[in-house]
Amino acid sequence: MINNMRVLVGISGASGSIYAERLIAELASRIPRVYVIFTKTGQQVCRHELTISDERFSLLRLLKQEQNPDHVIRVFSDEDLFAPVASGSSVPTHMVVLPCSMGCLARISCGISSGLLERAADVMLKQKRPLIVCPRETPLNTIHLRNMTSLSEMGVHIVPAMPAFYQKPSGISDLVDFMVGRILEILNLDHQLYRPWNPRMR
Ligand SMILES: Cc1cc2nc3c(=O)[nH]c(=O)nc-3n(C[C@H](O)[C@H](O)[C@H](O)COP(=O)(O)O)c2cc1C
Repeated sequence: MINNMRVLVGISGASGSIYAERLIAELASRIPRVYVIFTKTGQQVCRHELTISDERFSLLRLLKQEQNPDHVIRVFSDEDLFAPVASGSSVPTHMVVLPCSMGCLARISCGISSGLLERAADVMLKQKRPLIVCPRETPLNTIHLRNMTSLSEMGVHIVPAMPAFYQKPSGISDLVDFMVGRILEILNLDHQLYRPWNPRMR
């Protein structure tokens, strides 16, 4: 399965670009192809929140087209509706929207497809392929909750950016690893980003 995996990571303008940075790094070391689409605001939030400090992989360097280990990663413009992922005939095996803004979530749930990220999500839905949406907002209003319910009813995995603290994280990196580990589990990819819960081991 891993040999055929082509995972599309959509990065929208919610807070939490660091999750996408870590997920892409983990995917690129495990599977042959990772596609990336930033929304316009997604790019702006990445520039605001991230610094080029991660020694393994930098989303900012990818944005500047300075880093692409082994050309595993392919970035598509959100405006490029001629890209292969816009068509059901060339659909990725899995898609993760991380972080997912409430606007992006609403547009996906209504099938609006205003850019390539949303169109690709729409294709995943119509082809009934696995779609993972990682919303980040708090507090949530009824519109947000209804849109999440509507996506969940269509089989979408709703994985809120809500790291746990029972792992006794030693810093932000552990919190990020927890979230990315949860996503890798849904993708059926092995990882050692955190230890499985065992209350007898402290
Ligand atoms: C620094 C920053 C952080 C933001 N964080 C969030 C967030 O966590 N959740 C959210 O729904 N919107 C957030 N927004 C607002 C979205 O960026 C905004 O709704 C935007 O239109 C989303 O566009 P997109 O869905 O096309 O990426 C944030 C905006 C900025 C500038």
